[in-house]
Amino acid sequence: MATPGSSQARRVPRPHDFLPLLKFKRPVLDPTTRRLERALTIADLRVIAKRRTPKAPFDYTDGAAEAELSLSRARQAFEDITFHPAILRDVSAVDTSVQVLGKRSALPFGIAPTGFTRMMQSEGEIAGATAAAAAGIPYSLSTMGTTGIEEVAAATPQGRNWFQLYMWKDRDRSMALVDRAAAAGFDTLLVTVDVPVAGARLRDVRNGMTIPPTLTPRTVLNTIPRPAWWINFLTTEPLAFASLDKWSGTVAELLDTMFDPTVTFEDLAWIRDQWPGTVVVKGVQSVEDAVKVAELGVDAVLLSNHGGRQLDRAPIPFHLLPQVRAAVGDQLEVHLDTGIMSGQDIVAALAVGADFTLIGRAYLYGLMAGGRRGVDRAIEILTGEIERTMRLLGVTSIAELEPRHVTQLQRLAPRSV
Ligand SMILES: Cc1cc2nc3c(=O)[nH]c(=O)nc-3n(C[C@H](O)[C@H](O)[C@H](O)COP(=O)(O)O)c2cc1C
Repeated sequence: MATPGSSQARRVPRPHDFLPLLKFKRPVLDPTTRRLERALTIADLRVIAKRRTPKAPFDYTDGAAEAELSLSRARQAFEDITFHPAILRDVSAVDTSVQVLGKRSALPFGIAPTGFTRMMQSEGEIAGATAAAAAGIPYSLSTMGTTGIEEVAAATPQGRNWFQLYMWKDRDRSMALVDRAAAAGFDTLLVTVDVPVAGARLRDVRNGMTIPPTLTPRTVLNTIPRPAWWINFLTTEPLAFASLDKWSGTVAELLDTMFDPTVTFEDLAWIRDQWPGTVVVKGVQSVEDAVKVAELGVDAVLLSNHGGRQLDRAPIPFHLLPQVRAAVGDQLEVHLDTGIMSGQDIVAALAVGADFTLIGRAYLYGLMAGGRRGVDRAIEILTGEIERTMRLLGVTSIAELEPRHVTQLQRLAPRSV
């Protein structure tokens, strides 16, 4: 037993001992801010997004094609990397900026084009574009976006916007879109080439997903715990398409128009010649095609399997990186998307040879969790993770990241069959 006066003797606590330990935070009254502050990762934002969004639009965003293996494998590949840090470097200041397609981006990622974004949360494209402009990174507007090209441009006078094109055989209509984007100051065209036909999103089929969402007994039931989404949806402008201001057909007809199975490399070369800015080919999935595209004289290839939303069991873009980098050298930039859920994933992609990355769902989870502020939070989370990982690896600029910083566990590494 402790003797009186020894260090283990008990005594009545004195206020000056414990008062400094009491740290009551001022309560955050705004529920959105409170929710977003509690989210520490993109996965946390996803949980909030799921709670606040009706099942059909949530699954449309979260889901992928068929058995969703392309997406889960791409995410697994990122989780399966090992980082190799260098010690005792001065990492007090880190610079996360990169040059991408001739201009500076404050961060090594931009926002990927996503269709129907106002269906996920009514602030939609404007939230994404203004958050990107505030962060100093590029924003990509989809051909299937739900806000007009000119409206996005007007909301982001300081922003850098890219336009994503689904090429159509109808060259006049393709050109009309491309001209509008160029006139609105969009500086880069992302030509998506991995959608000759629509992928099979089984969650959407099972949910009876329609665009715009319809009120059936099932959707009404699903709405009860998510009134904010419906109030927002029903009290804001009805969904309209970025590119098809006078579209009067059904959604099925729209999709048929969007995805043209006859498009070839010649069409790509034609578009390349029409566009005054830089061109990125989005959806390249083999070394051979990357080389072919490079020979056409475009400015970047985007290694992507469309977030697993098209071909299931597609190659993992992260695994293609080293070979594509080696094959195309410095001829053009190599960008990557699919499966990015953290800043660590982005750092790994850059180390292995990517010049830039795009995020799709990572920002959409933020959007569904809290509109514009949710997108800001997603960007903030990724930025913190990138900066911390760079410091822990012992690098202070993106250019210092090298393949030696990353190895891949063998489990999922590509090998010949
Ligand atoms: C809901 C949703 C809609 C999308 N719409 C388009 C689109 O209209 N055009 C396009 O080229 N890519 C589209 N994509 C693919 C993204 O541009 C990007 O390639 C993909 O989301 C990257 O994977 P990640 O979501 O894992 O980051 C969409 C992706 C999602 C999740």
